[in-house]
Amino acid sequence: MPDNAAVLAAVEGVIDPELRSPIGALGMVDRVSIDGEDVAITLVLPLGGHPQEEELMRRIRDAVTSAGVVGKAEVAMIAMTDEQRSELGKVMRKGRESGDRTVALADPGTTTRVIGIASGKGGVGKSSVTANLAVALSQQGHRVGIMDADVWGFSIPKMMGLDRPPSVLQDMLIPPVAHGVAVISMDFFVEPDQAVVWRGPMLHKALEQFLVDVYWGDLDFLLIDMPPGTGDVSISISQYLPRSELVVVTTPQPAAQRVAVKAGLMAKKVNQELVGIIENMSWFTGDDGKRYELFGSGGGEALSEDLDVPLLGKVPLVPALREGSDVGAPIVATDPDGEAAQAFAALASALVERRPRLRTHPELVIS
Ligand SMILES: Nc1ncnc2c1ncn2[C@@H]1O[C@H](COP(=O)(O)OP(=O)(O)O)[C@@H](O)[C@H]1O
Ligand SMILES: [Mg+2]
Repeated sequence: MPDNAAVLAAVEGVIDPELRSPIGALGMVDRVSIDGEDVAITLVLPLGGHPQEEELMRRIRDAVTSAGVVGKAEVAMIAMTDEQRSELGKVMRKGRESGDRTVALADPGTTTRVIGIASGKGGVGKSSVTANLAVALSQQGHRVGIMDADVWGFSIPKMMGLDRPPSVLQDMLIPPVAHGVAVISMDFFVEPDQAVVWRGPMLHKALEQFLVDVYWGDLDFLLIDMPPGTGDVSISISQYLPRSELVVVTTPQPAAQRVAVKAGLMAKKVNQELVGIIENMSWFTGDDGKRYELFGSGGGEALSEDLDVPLLGKVPLVPALREGSDVGAPIVATDPDGEAAQAFAALASALVERRPRLRTHPELVIS
């Protein structure tokens, strides 16, 4: 017969797919009781139902099975009391008072790696790379979010197939999740066809809200889809997240690389750590199995040399990648064995392997 304490611990350790934290720590486990081979579980939920109920149930089933339950697992759900909700709010703010505007992701103790995905110009595939890389990281078992900071040309929700807006819980926005990835974007907050006109201070404030008022949970990676070029957004991000990293996406033709250099130099200027280059649309594999370099070659290598950072990987031109982006089905999720997915899996591993710089003590630099 399974041990009640072991089953309780297993249930409490289940990661909520929506809030990305253990349900025990979130105060969502009310009761677990063993009855012979079966177990009865009572959860208390903050919202009227769970947006990812099926996935939550699957995780609970797996957890109790691992803890030795061989019979039925019955899960009852009841609504949180106001008091429980307010406790949950405190956990979500990581102990911060509600008026505190500091960015939790910038805490020295955070283990989340924040990686901006930048490019010199638009159309090089920055958003496609962000979306597919996020799904690849998630497939490798990491907790991943995307902050769409391309406030003028947001495209991430559409690429990820998200039409569900964030839910609101205790004054915090809970980002919707698709393909295991939590997403926040201006797309959720502006009316269709409404022009977005941003001036510097408004933009700075909007990014602050994305970082402070959004509950990201305990992420391993937050990828930021940066607007093309360099400018206000890069400066704001580096101020809010002084330890964030940056990756520059470029295409193979040498002309593209000259523009991309600027994005890389910007990172150095605002003291972000430039971790590497991704070359996109590097080749097209024909029906004959041969690789054709439609846009020339050498751009990624040249940029890597110019900026003195590694070329993390290359992504082929795959028509199905574009089609997937258009219909909200990232190719890494729909064709996990294809050549694009393999390229993104390799990129994800390269990023995981590259350990970020923690801090530099200026007074100890000897030169
Ligand atoms: N590797 C690729 N293979 C095929 N199409 C791609 C690839 N990368 C990007 N695209 C397509 O190119 C266009 C521009 O990509 P996008 O990610 O929106 O660029 P950016 O965010 O840099 O402006 C989109 O239609 C996208 O689907
Ligand atoms: Mg884009």
